[in-house]
Amino acid sequence: MKKNIQIAIDGPAAAGKSTIAKLAAEDLGYTYIDTGAMYRAITYKVLKRHIDLENEEALTQLLFETTIELKPSSDGQLVILDDEDVSDEIRSNIVTSSVSIVASHAGLREEMVNRQLIMAKSGGVVMDGRDIGTHVLVDAELKVFMSASVDERAKRRQLDNERRGIDSHVDQLKKEIVERDKMDTERHASPLVQAKDAIYLDTTNLTIQEAAKYIIQLAKERMS
Ligand code: CDP
Ligand code: CDP
Repeated sequence: MKKNIQIAIDGPAAAGKSTIAKLAAEDLGYTYIDTGAMYRAITYKVLKRHIDLENEEALTQLLFETTIELKPSSDGQLVILDDEDVSDEIRSNIVTSSVSIVASHAGLREEMVNRQLIMAKSGGVVMDGRDIGTHVLVDAELKVFMSASVDERAKRRQLDNERRGIDSHVDQLKKEIVERDKMDTERHASPLVQAKDAIYLDTTNLTIQEAAKYIIQLAKERMS
């Protein structure tokens, strides 16, 4: 029986990856790593510094000079950028609409992946993102590709925004989600694609608890 395994969860925007990954990690006593939050954090800094989003060299250099920490907290995960808590700021509309451009640069991704591998080194881990099963945790014992209908994903993100006090409209969100998925899927550097050995999970008609339970059950099977 292997107690600590690696679980990689990938999929398009608002499929439920982070919520379900966090629940599964809590149940299994594993570390949860939200890699999307890392790309969002560097995007927030890039925007604050008014650096051209297309300037790969400048963006990669900035990441080398930046610390990004993910800290578990009672209400989720805190994202600390150079000692500043940016957990709320990284969910803003401007960060969301810019992050896929920043994340398209191969040099920047390479440094992110190095950091993610270090974070995943000790003990069991649940990591979610776009390239986890295909590029980061390629030997993960369990890989899940999570999705849901785009209408359902836009509805969920609208509810998220209402809770966070972010102004948005479901039709606009749907358009943005489709555009971001397209960029993430079509980019040259580690695009969003289902790993060959990943299990496909459609969460459209599943509750968060049902999806988490399914992943925990799969994880326990892989442990034995
Ligand atoms: O939560 P949401 O689905 O809105 O996105 P996220 O997981 O916070 O990721 C934000 C963006 O970061 C994605 O749209 C990707 O462009 C990028 N990302 C990536 O390229 N690779 C990852 N492993 C994670 C995120
Ligand atoms: O990480 P990702 O962008 O894939 O999605 P998320 O931020 O975990 O989920 C987006 C929203 O959908 C959250 O508010 C979740 O609570 C909600 N959700 C849901 O209502 N039912 C599910 N089966 C999965 C997620």
